[in-house]
Amino acid sequence: MPPTLPISPTDRVFILCGAGVSAESGIPTFRGVGGLWQNFRIEEVASPEAWYRDPRMVWEFYSMRRRAASTAKPNPAHFALAKLENTLQDRLFVCTQNVDRLHELAGSKNVIHMHGELFKSRCDTCSRAPFADTNVYDPPAEVPRCKCGGRIRPHICWFGEMPFELDRIYEALDGCTVFLAVGTSGVVHPAASFVDHVAGRARTIYVGPESPENASSFAECYLGKAGQVLPNLFSVL
Ligand code: OAD
Ligand code: ZN
Repeated sequence: MPPTLPISPTDRVFILCGAGVSAESGIPTFRGVGGLWQNFRIEEVASPEAWYRDPRMVWEFYSMRRRAASTAKPNPAHFALAKLENTLQDRLFVCTQNVDRLHELAGSKNVIHMHGELFKSRCDTCSRAPFADTNVYDPPAEVPRCKCGGRIRPHICWFGEMPFELDRIYEALDGCTVFLAVGTSGVVHPAASFVDHVAGRARTIYVGPESPENASSFAECYLGKAGQVLPNLFSVL
């Protein structure tokens, strides 16, 4: 078990979450045993090229993920982060790579979804804002259309696309004194290089059951499951 992590009244905490945070809620991670990328090829289901080549296959993949995530419940890691937000308010910045809504279901109000949101869709042509969408679009049904004639696509950052809210994210990274990454394998950029952006200036900590690819960038690594470590990690002074 890691020592507790004291948070002083002047600390500003940046938390980067990865798929491991939702693993204990039954949502599969991407890499490793049982990971989604063992059964699907990224370039066939999660890229702009896939969308233009075969949008129905892309919807089949995201429909499956909507189905799997629709009954998932937050775990103690999500609740710990919601509680921390309650205490630290705007001194906490949670940036998740996860597209599920488990942070929100646990009570978090300010979570940046840098890779998008599974239960939102948007038009692939016009600038209509992303909208809530829990539908599953299974082939052979047609891909849904926007009023403008464009196709409705998942509101997800695909490989080759720019993550969302990077301006706010780098502003928060610049101002943080504590940087904690949880449950992320440290291979997908730019998220995997956030730690290098703050190194030397902020306290850097990793929590997860195994060392991430970018472990050498962290000053401290604590091995353990998010749902077991996070509820006892923070000690707000
Ligand atoms: P990965 O699947 O790459 O890594 C999941 C990490 O979670 C691994 O390091 C596991 O050791 C760890 N893990 C497993 N169970 C855990 C637990 N109970 N508690 C804590 N950690 C646990 O997922 P990400 O790093 O999030 O992008 O992947 C990053 C991005 O790659 C995703 O957002 C997604 C994916 O392709 C897009 O779809 C754009
Ligand atoms: Zn449109």
